[in-house]
Amino acid sequence: MKVLVTGGCGFIGSNFLHYMVNKYSNYNFVCVDALTYAGNYANLNPIINESNFKFIKEDITNRENIFKIFENENFDWVINFAAESHVDNSIKNPEIFLKTNILGTQVLMDASLKYNIKRYHQISTDEVYGDLPLDRPDLLFTEENPIHTSSPYSASKASADLLVSAYIRTFKLPATISRCSNNYGPYQFPEKLIPVVISKALNNENIPVYGKGENIRDWIHVHDHNTAIDLIMHKGKVGEVYNIGGRSEKTNLEVVKTILSKLGKSEELITFVTDRPGHDLRYAIDSDKIEKELGWTREYVFEEGITETINWYIENTEWINDIKSGKYKAFYEVKND
Ligand SMILES: NC(=O)c1ccc[n+]([C@@H]2O[C@H](COP(=O)([O-])OP(=O)(O)OC[C@H]3O[C@@H](n4cnc5c(N)ncnc54)[C@H](O)[C@@H]3O)[C@@H](O)[C@H]2O)c1
Repeated sequence: MKVLVTGGCGFIGSNFLHYMVNKYSNYNFVCVDALTYAGNYANLNPIINESNFKFIKEDITNRENIFKIFENENFDWVINFAAESHVDNSIKNPEIFLKTNILGTQVLMDASLKYNIKRYHQISTDEVYGDLPLDRPDLLFTEENPIHTSSPYSASKASADLLVSAYIRTFKLPATISRCSNNYGPYQFPEKLIPVVISKALNNENIPVYGKGENIRDWIHVHDHNTAIDLIMHKGKVGEVYNIGGRSEKTNLEVVKTILSKLGKSEELITFVTDRPGHDLRYAIDSDKIEKELGWTREYVFEEGITETINWYIENTEWINDIKSGKYKAFYEVKND
């Protein structure tokens, strides 16, 4: 079994590879990543020397080179994590989001069709469903909810999902889609809420919180996301969408206060800043389908997961410092000189 994992130098993709390369020593994994600002070659350190793992630096939008990689490698499965993933960046510069998230997905699917891969999996997000009101805790997103996007990021991810559905229907691409809620855990690029808060709190810096911090997200440990993808790849039904959620809704302010309290830092570090335009109010995922049909369960509860995550960032300050200094950009060149 040969598996292509795109975007494996990012947060979720690298955690996925650490888990899968060790679990399936009889499978071969190839990571294709363009090493954008969010891609850190050092994230592959735990597996880089494993005999069932290989890295190829490439951009998924480069049709010619991606087709060559498919031709040479003969993949059975393709799992597409590669994306521009930061909502704030999509508001400043939507274009790259459309290019990577939509056209990149198309290139991978065209190559998957040409080289007859057995399964294509699209990593999507709960953000494609838009948001829910804060005062209706009874409402959750199911797979039947219509797509209703708010940011250029979520619109690009939703566009990719629609394209995947069209390829399933029109070209019989054997594909699945998963839509997960907000992930936390090790190796998350320090532009996202949790690593930003941990890093700033450790340095006693002010912590910016959008609006009043009332927006609600459903938090899932990245390991639980990845066990769900493992299950979908092995047992999921072609053509299906699977929601993956943490059943752990928290306001942003609750998350920030939890981290500050665990680090023994003052809440005076919290600084409320002008809200993000179009900021989604609440995401909440119903993951009954994957639980009932595939038997997926979570291993983490937020309280434990966040403590473990905080400890990881404390023990890996060099990892964050290398990103902050820009040193991480040279890791690939240094190793491959
Ligand atoms: N982070 C979350 O909470 C979350 C939740 C649900 C879904 N997702 C989805 O999961 C996937 C991974 O998210 P993440 O948080 O790990 O993102 P990330 O930004 O940490 O990593 C993205 C990776 O993709 C690579 N990449 C970007 N453009 C590329 C291109 N054109 N060609 C090849 N590689 C490219 C980057 O170099 C990086 O390694 C994304 O598709 C995202 O939409 C994320």
